[in-house]
Amino acid sequence: MKAHASQLEDRIHPVDRPAAATARACSNVALVKYWGKVDEVRRVPATGSLSITLAGLTTETTVAFSNRDEPDLIVLDGRPVGGREAARVSAFLDLIRGASVQQDRPVGAASVRSVNYFPTAAGLASSASGFAALAAATVRAAGMDTDPDTLASLARLGSASAARSIHGGFVELVPFQRAGGDWDARTARVATEEHWDLRVLVSVIDSRYKPIGSTPAMARTSATSPYYGAWLDSWGADLTECREAIAGRDLERLASVAEHSALKLHALTTTSRPPMQFFRGPSLEVMHAVWDLRSSGTLCAFTADAGPNIKVLCSPDDEERVRSALTSVNGVQTVQATTVGGPVEIVSHDVDPTGVWGRGKARGGGDE
Ligand code: PMV
Repeated sequence: MKAHASQLEDRIHPVDRPAAATARACSNVALVKYWGKVDEVRRVPATGSLSITLAGLTTETTVAFSNRDEPDLIVLDGRPVGGREAARVSAFLDLIRGASVQQDRPVGAASVRSVNYFPTAAGLASSASGFAALAAATVRAAGMDTDPDTLASLARLGSASAARSIHGGFVELVPFQRAGGDWDARTARVATEEHWDLRVLVSVIDSRYKPIGSTPAMARTSATSPYYGAWLDSWGADLTECREAIAGRDLERLASVAEHSALKLHALTTTSRPPMQFFRGPSLEVMHAVWDLRSSGTLCAFTADAGPNIKVLCSPDDEERVRSALTSVNGVQTVQATTVGGPVEIVSHDVDPTGVWGRGKARGGGDE
């Protein structure tokens, strides 16, 4: 982690005196999924993935640095958090504190306030938008700036899927091996949010938290599912097909590859030991509703992450027809529609409002 972090530090440069910044990021859902990691510490996925950014599911995060050496204050959705959740955020802040020391403008403890603007009871993962917003806000609050690719690599160190939320539109995240043998991953925007006007309808089946986190779930799969080798062998073809479907705005082709990728992932978790079955009964009914719609001429496609809720893609013209089919499935609580979202943005940025950088010493000893 250290060597990798310092490679990133070299690509972060000072722009302002440290203070506070607020960033907003959209969540994303993978159309070609990743599952499994080649490097758990650096959160390098074992397979490539390609996502669509979700405009309606956002996280807004404010980071303010002080020059004091004390514990960070972390408030998520109005609730101060501690334990592992806080440790994960503080570990991320430490990366930026490392860069700030290297650049002779060390920052100290942070106050982090993060709010998820997700549809009520959506039961959707917020780690992608959460770590993307945290990465952007932290870098700016520390008085620095960097390019989107470096920001994506930083966000990935918080949560791998967060790397894709930096760019907006349709984004891929692909692992590669460095000359020395270390694994790393790069992001690339495959198409902007304007390229294809799609709707994503989220059918909420169960809004409770997942019974198992994605990291231990992936580790169990790679260690025990007999199909894991086939998964590693087949993602490259899926990625190529998905890229082509997006370039050609071909929803039929996208449906074929996205459903194939999602169902392969669920085949992996189902065949792990002990098994992890994320679908509930209504999840399967929603998939059948999608197939029924397609066979009666309405183009749409589903995808599903490590949880029971199913996301369905369709054209704006078909939104109401698809929504009414999904709503009529027994066990579907709500259906929330969203459009394709854009990149992470800094929504406000204060430069040294308190003047602390003119007065005191920050953790690490620097003086401004
Ligand atoms: O990177 P995480 O911990 O948010 O895990 C993401 C796992 C999936 O959502 C199932 C797949 C993906 O590519 O986003």
